[in-house]
Amino acid sequence: MKKAGIIGAGSWGTALATVLAGKGHQVRIFDVDEGHLRRMEAARENTDYLPGVPLNENIQIAWSSEEALKDADVVLFSAPTQHFRSALQAALPYISDDALIVNVAKGIEQGTHLRLSQIAAECLDVDRYVALSGPSHAEEVGRALPTTVAVASANLASAEAIQDLFMTDRFRVYTTEDIVGVELGGALKNVIALGAGISDGLGFGDNAKAALMTRGLAEISRLGVALGAQPETFAGLTGVGDLIVTCTSMHSRNRRCGILMGEGKDPEDAVREIGMVVEGMTTAEAAWELASTAQVEMPITEAIYRITRGTLKAQEAMEMLMGREKKHEQA
Ligand SMILES: NC(=O)c1ccc[n+]([C@@H]2O[C@H](COP(=O)([O-])OP(=O)(O)OC[C@H]3O[C@@H](n4cnc5c(N)ncnc54)[C@H](O)[C@@H]3O)[C@@H](O)[C@H]2O)c1
Repeated sequence: MKKAGIIGAGSWGTALATVLAGKGHQVRIFDVDEGHLRRMEAARENTDYLPGVPLNENIQIAWSSEEALKDADVVLFSAPTQHFRSALQAALPYISDDALIVNVAKGIEQGTHLRLSQIAAECLDVDRYVALSGPSHAEEVGRALPTTVAVASANLASAEAIQDLFMTDRFRVYTTEDIVGVELGGALKNVIALGAGISDGLGFGDNAKAALMTRGLAEISRLGVALGAQPETFAGLTGVGDLIVTCTSMHSRNRRCGILMGEGKDPEDAVREIGMVVEGMTTAEAAWELASTAQVEMPITEAIYRITRGTLKAQEAMEMLMGREKKHEQA
């Protein structure tokens, strides 16, 4: 049995802690929000982010990064994307030389436009770094509903070790070496999910949503390939799989935020009403800037970015997208 230290006791960190603890691994979980940790400890449940899932007895609350990571074989980061750099900096002195590092956040760093493995590569050996992604709502994983994900690493042996660590008869894990494709698919689908929500909020139907998802995936793949990803990855769990789950479910904060914007709420008010991190909002900006630099056409992402900025109305975005010049589907 392994020792896992988890940094970030939100819904996803807690759901993954539950998977590991259920297999008999020893899990220590830390969060910067001490009040949240105290409530978790008192209730032995993550009442703030994952209510209804009791904490397994193999899960211990840690009161510092140091305590969480002492002798850990595996370090798992589950803080939101924009907090990964600071979480990593705080954890770095306590990560042992042979520990594997897993990151489950989905996004691109604002300002630098770096993928999370690129941030990690500034101070860690990339061969020890694994990204975990795929169609996986914490609410369902916490209840042991069947789920599949993929783990990606430049070093296949590291991905396989994480596959073995997590794999159960309810949580199936695939491996891949295409970390660029996995990270971009996971980040960029949140932007399209905002769009799917906006479409629902405007009162459009299934046809419009299917169009956004399909043409959205086409532009995600276009950018991904330009940035070095393998095209097949976008047809897999971390591409179309995650896009489907995010664009069709009310578990998705991005989609729910989009619905509010489609109904006419200001972007800031919509985010405030969701009350949690809506990663698609920051990713929209990063995606649009990455696309501009790489000179890749991403009209849906651009429209969603402009809606989040308040410079384009949702209805106008639809008219703009439907009124584009005719083209070949594969062009
Ligand atoms: N919720 C899901 O179903 C799900 C599924 C797959 C991936 N993800 C990804 O996982 C990441 C986390 O999502 P979540 O839903 O668990 O978020 P959340 O909002 O439920 O929780 C995030 C937690 O991270 C903590 N945190 C913030 N900065 C920290 C730091 N520096 N050190 C330690 N803890 C810190 C916060 O206090 C909070 O408790 C996101 O990138 C998200 O896209 C979430």
